[in-house]
Amino acid sequence: MTPPKSVPVANNMDAFLMPFTANRQFKANPRLLARAKGVHYWTPEGRKVIDGTAGLWCVNAGHGREEIKAAIAQQLEEMDYAPSFQMGHPKSFELAARHAAMLPGDLNHAFYCNSGSEAVDSALKIALAYHRANGQGTRTRFVGRERGYHGVGFGGISVGGMVNNRKWFGALLPGVDHLPHTHLPQNAFSKGEPEHGVHLADALEGIVGLHDASNIAAVIVEPCAGSTGFLPPPKGYLKRLREICDKHGILLIFDEVITGFGRLGTGFAAEKFGVIPDLMTVAKGISNATVPMGGVFVRKHVFDGLMQGPENAVDLFHGYTYSAHPLACAAASAVLDIYKDEALFQRAGELSSYWEEGVHSLKGLPNVTDIRNLGLACGIDLAPEGAVGTRGYKAFVKAFDIGLMMRQSGDALAMSPPLVIEKGQIDEIIEITGKAIRAVA
Ligand SMILES: Cc1ncc(COP(=O)(O)O)c(C=O)c1O
Repeated sequence: MTPPKSVPVANNMDAFLMPFTANRQFKANPRLLARAKGVHYWTPEGRKVIDGTAGLWCVNAGHGREEIKAAIAQQLEEMDYAPSFQMGHPKSFELAARHAAMLPGDLNHAFYCNSGSEAVDSALKIALAYHRANGQGTRTRFVGRERGYHGVGFGGISVGGMVNNRKWFGALLPGVDHLPHTHLPQNAFSKGEPEHGVHLADALEGIVGLHDASNIAAVIVEPCAGSTGFLPPPKGYLKRLREICDKHGILLIFDEVITGFGRLGTGFAAEKFGVIPDLMTVAKGISNATVPMGGVFVRKHVFDGLMQGPENAVDLFHGYTYSAHPLACAAASAVLDIYKDEALFQRAGELSSYWEEGVHSLKGLPNVTDIRNLGLACGIDLAPEGAVGTRGYKAFVKAFDIGLMMRQSGDALAMSPPLVIEKGQIDEIIEITGKAIRAVA
């Protein structure tokens, strides 16, 4: 294993405005990561911490992969940057063809960007442009879901359903409705997809009844909500959503930023649930988080729908300076090789029952009110202690202190280890989680 090096730490941390962080609390008692390899981080002092969350649900192939490093270095040597506006570079086309080949159904076309948030805003815009190009320009409304997370762009927070991410930022995008979330108390401690809740998809009919389908562009959901404590969909729910969207000509967008690239034991959640969305957003595992990258995969009819203008007209007035950045394309292509050569999606599927047994063994520990799991991910709810999030935060800090990085959202703990995790390391994660939960009882 890589020996930890001592890394100097700035003695004044004030300058960095940290995202999604209690800055003053953090800086008074920082948790720093300085090196990473495989499924581990090391702190600047050399303390080893097991990565229970694949970074931020993104380092699916594990840290420090030599093949990805080599591909990025080689690309940097050949060509650092090339624009994708009215120009191109070979690796972007190769990558899109590789993605198209591995995606289910006719999700055959890829748009690239730099993050999940950009992917979501791009998908919403593609949906609007598609309808307009097809003579249905009145379809401008979107439907999201309570407790959904779709990144932090104005589009993403508007269709998202996390109160704190919305309430600070004004009026948001107009014309957005939300489906009810799918976290039902009768499903507590379900293993895998919960039994109850398919009917929650029918709320879409109510929204159609209110606005008329002719005004609705798209529905966007995470197949498994991630950021509010990992909520797998009730059995049949996504199929029902697909049926209702089809009935009314509404586009269905799956936000697969965390479920894409193997998290559920299949390439994409669309395969796991047998439901093909019209558009799919991805990021994170697309490049194993080495170079920022996001993408929107679209089905043939959506792509064809945008290609109807004169040949010399721009088809989509949208893009980023770094769309299909050569370094990101090189990294994404190298990580596809790893996923394939090491059959990592299949590996995640094979490990998922071991993971399930492990996480559900925590049932019965003090304050544990629910445990959810699917693929190589889980959510564990703790009963609040006073203010919401207090107990969850304490458990998260305790776990880090004894050697595990997990995620905390309110009083929910979430984990999603790299897909290269070994069974013994899963045992370690479960053991530390149990200790942390007991310590905050
Ligand atoms: C489902 C989902 N969508 C979008 C995003 C936003 O991605 P990013 O942070 O890369 O902008 C995330 C991030 O966690 C996510 O989980």
